[in-house]
Amino acid sequence: MSKLDASKSGSFKVGGEIKIHRLGFGTMRITGKGIWGPPADKAEAIRTLKRLPDLGIDFVDTASSYGPDVSEQLIREALYPYRGMLIATKAGFQRPGPSVWETDGRPEWLRQEALKSCKQLGVEQVGLWQLHRIDPKVPRDEQFGAVKSLLDDGIIRHAGLSEVSVADIVAASKVFKVATVQNRYNLVDRGSEDVLDYCETHGIGFIPWFPLAAGDLAKSGSLLDGIAKAHDATPSQIALAWVLKRSPVMLPIPGTSKVAHLEENVAAVNITLSDQDFAALDREGRKEYRAA
Ligand SMILES: NC(=O)c1ccc[n+]([C@@H]2O[C@H](COP(=O)([O-])OP(=O)(O)OC[C@H]3O[C@@H](n4cnc5c(N)ncnc54)[C@H](OP(=O)(O)O)[C@@H]3O)[C@@H](O)[C@H]2O)c1
Repeated sequence: MSKLDASKSGSFKVGGEIKIHRLGFGTMRITGKGIWGPPADKAEAIRTLKRLPDLGIDFVDTASSYGPDVSEQLIREALYPYRGMLIATKAGFQRPGPSVWETDGRPEWLRQEALKSCKQLGVEQVGLWQLHRIDPKVPRDEQFGAVKSLLDDGIIRHAGLSEVSVADIVAASKVFKVATVQNRYNLVDRGSEDVLDYCETHGIGFIPWFPLAAGDLAKSGSLLDGIAKAHDATPSQIALAWVLKRSPVMLPIPGTSKVAHLEENVAAVNITLSDQDFAALDREGRKEYRAA
C-alpha cells in the first residue's frame, strides 16, 4: 500500500450501492478567479486531477456552475473514462459572471443542466447528482419532483441535496431517496450538527464542504497547534483528520488546484487522533463556533 492512500480513510456506499473511499476531492478550485473561466495554471490543474487515482481517491465532486462548465470539462479531459470513480455533480445555479451565483430551481433548468452534465462528462448517467440549492423562488416540492423525474428517467443514478436543514431532508425523502447531503461543515463551523446526526442515523452520506478550515484554533500555541506538532502535521491536516473521525458517513472533499496540496491533504488519512484529542478539539471547535 502506498504511503499516500485515500483508501485508509475507510469506505462508504453511496445510495447503499456505489462504494467509494471516504476521502474525496472537490473541484471548485480548478477554475479561474471567482469560480469563473479556466484556471490560472491549466497544466497543474490537469496534473492534480490525474494524480487522484494514484492516491486512491475515487470520489470527485463538481457542479455545472463551476466555471461554469470548466470543472466538468477538465474532469473529462483528465479522468475519462473514470474507471471505478464516482463523479458527483450538481445544478441549481445560474452564473451571470465571476463570483455571482443566482439560484434557479425551475424543473426545466434542472433537467437541462443534468443533461448537459451527462454530455460534458461523457456519461450516459450521472452516478450522483445533487440539487445545489433549494431555490426559494420555486416551490420546494416542484424541485424535488424534478429530481425524482431525473431518477425515474435514468438520467441520474442517485440524488443528493446541498445546504439543507433536517426538515428539507425529511420533505425531500417523501419524494425521492436522498443519498447524500452536502453542507458547509468543519471543526469550527458546526451549524450542521443536527443534519450530520440525521444523516448518520439514516445512512445518508454527509459531504462537508470547506473541511480544512480551523479558524483561530490554528493559532501558534493553541491546542490544535500542539496536537499538529505532536503528529508532525499541519493544523489543516489535523482539522481534516478530526472531520473524518467525527462520523462514518462523513465524506470530505477538500479542494485544491495543486498536486502538492492534494498530497498534503491525502496524508491526513495517516493521522490517528486519540479519543482524548478528538474530544478536546471538539470542545474547542464548538466554543469557537459559538463565539463567532
Ligand atoms: N455545495 C456547496 O454549496 C459547495 C460550496 C463550496 C464548495 N463546495 C465543494 O466543496 C469543495 C471543497 O470546498 P472549498 O474549496 O470551499 O474548501 P476547502 O477544500 O476546505 O479549501 C480549499 C482552499 O484551501 C486551499 N488548500 C487546499 N489544500 C491546501 C493545502 N494543503 N495547503 C494550503 N492550502 C490548501 C485551496 O487553494 P489551492 O488551490 O491554492 O490549494 C483553496 O483555496 C469544493 O471544491 C466544491 O467541490 C460545495
